[in-house]
Amino acid sequence: MGKILVMDHPLIQHKLSILRDVATGSKEFRTLISEIATLICYEATRDLPLAEIDVQTPICTTKAKAIAGKKLAVVPILRAGLGMVDGMLALVPSARVGHIGLDRDPDTLMPVEYYCKLPADIEEREVFVVDPMLATGGSAIDAIAQIKKRGPKHIKFLGIIAAPEGLNALKEAHPDVDIYLAALDEKLNDHGYIVPGLGDAGDRIFGTK
Ligand code: PRP
Ligand code: URA
Repeated sequence: MGKILVMDHPLIQHKLSILRDVATGSKEFRTLISEIATLICYEATRDLPLAEIDVQTPICTTKAKAIAGKKLAVVPILRAGLGMVDGMLALVPSARVGHIGLDRDPDTLMPVEYYCKLPADIEEREVFVVDPMLATGGSAIDAIAQIKKRGPKHIKFLGIIAAPEGLNALKEAHPDVDIYLAALDEKLNDHGYIVPGLGDAGDRIFGTK
């Protein structure tokens, strides 16, 4: 069973409150999404394996730790997931980046795939799927199913706000996936938006509306 972590760190909670505010403009919104992604990434990389290395300090040689060559990939779900990529790469700059384009049909709320380009060696990598919003869960479930067909080592989902409906659906569809979130909100409304949420993440990041 994958782990589920809703991060209650004060820095994340503070930034999330500004993100939710309807008065926050696109420039600040993008910065906050990226900063929160970095903070979630810090926790999601806690279990990376370490190897012992020798380091020559100015004083002597000592045993020290280094990440044990683990290969990582970040896969944003377009569009809104793009907002989290730079924040992830700030901590794991050598990660490869794949892209999955999914759009929710506004009537059925079902995800429709329009793009998929993943790293060629994804089967050797641990994959971090990123998308700020987990609403019905349809987009994340579909994206992870596409990635699993390519046989990666392990998958983690990093989101910012989830609805209970989406979290339950994702857990059920992909019980092996670890899930990291900044908040678990109250519910979905009749249009599939998270309540209280932050509105349409893609539109707020890219200023399209
Ligand atoms: C949003 C969001 C998620 C999805 C979540 O994307 O970024 O990908 O909805 O909803 P779900 O859990 O019900 O699938 P949207 O389809 O609006 O596309 P966009 O990012 O291009 O705006
Ligand atoms: N997608 C969003 O961007 N926001 C929501 O509240 C639900 C889905």
